[in-house]
Amino acid sequence: MTSNRAFVMGHPIAHSRSPMLHTYWLERYGIEGSYERLDIAPEALDGFFAGFREAGWIGGNVTVPHKMAVIPHLDGIDAEARAMGAVNTIWWKDGALMGGNTDSLGFLGNLDECAPGWDASAGRAVILGAGGATRAAIHGLTSRGLDVAICNRTVAKAEALAGQFGKRVTAHGLDAVGALLADADLLVNTTSLGMIGQPPLEIDLATLKAGAVVHDVVYVPLETGLLKQAKARGCRTVDGLGMLLHQGVDGFRRWFGQTPEITQDLRALLVDDIRAKTPGA
Ligand code: ATR
Repeated sequence: MTSNRAFVMGHPIAHSRSPMLHTYWLERYGIEGSYERLDIAPEALDGFFAGFREAGWIGGNVTVPHKMAVIPHLDGIDAEARAMGAVNTIWWKDGALMGGNTDSLGFLGNLDECAPGWDASAGRAVILGAGGATRAAIHGLTSRGLDVAICNRTVAKAEALAGQFGKRVTAHGLDAVGALLADADLLVNTTSLGMIGQPPLEIDLATLKAGAVVHDVVYVPLETGLLKQAKARGCRTVDGLGMLLHQGVDGFRRWFGQTPEITQDLRALLVDDIRAKTPGA
């Protein structure tokens, strides 16, 4: 059995495409190692960490519902994880078990790759939603100097989130979206609406500037209703698959010592998998 064992842990975890991503990179670089899918129920978390060292894990990814719950089990967390209050990547550093968060790196990396120059003159962003992905988007966008308006069905959740990020970030209900779009350079959907199996995202883009960029973190289907509508208006669009690819880069580098590339082959592999497993995607 290989000693270079990394993991993705969550509950449920069957849907995770991270094993496909990291296994592709292991093969591409001829690195001996594995990346395993672990279904860890909340009540099994203590036991998992009690046996962590003995199991020989070199690190891994953490997903829902454990991104906050793992923190007390770690020896330290980095500034990104602290800013987001959540960990998605674990690794060893000088004998200490560390946690970081690469979600906002993934978010920004995807925008940089798919809409080059998007932030050159961007001043304002509108984000729909107030969940886990929203936090990564706000952190990333404010780090690039944008003002952010969070619009959510439950305004209290948007307000709580805005309160953690300072004056640049404001909170609104969904009824404010139309007016806010008129000044927006970037629109980001972080709700689950528009995903296969979820209700559609109903939004009127009539006030949005044609020069605005529209990004949907939903990637099943790859081209959501929002992105179709944005394309029809002549806006540049960015789908959500790249965020998954980009957030994985830093973990792979830490565990296996190689900065992996995001190739067209890799993207095609994931696109094929999404289409094969989700009719209509
Ligand atoms: P998380 O990202 O924390 O797992 P989620 O339950 O997946 O959160 O929901 C993500 C976002 O989708 C939330 O902002 C949610 O709005 P609420 O905070 O009001 O629940 C939004 N959302 C889900 N279904 C929705 C709907 N039918 N209409 C409007 N927003 C919706």
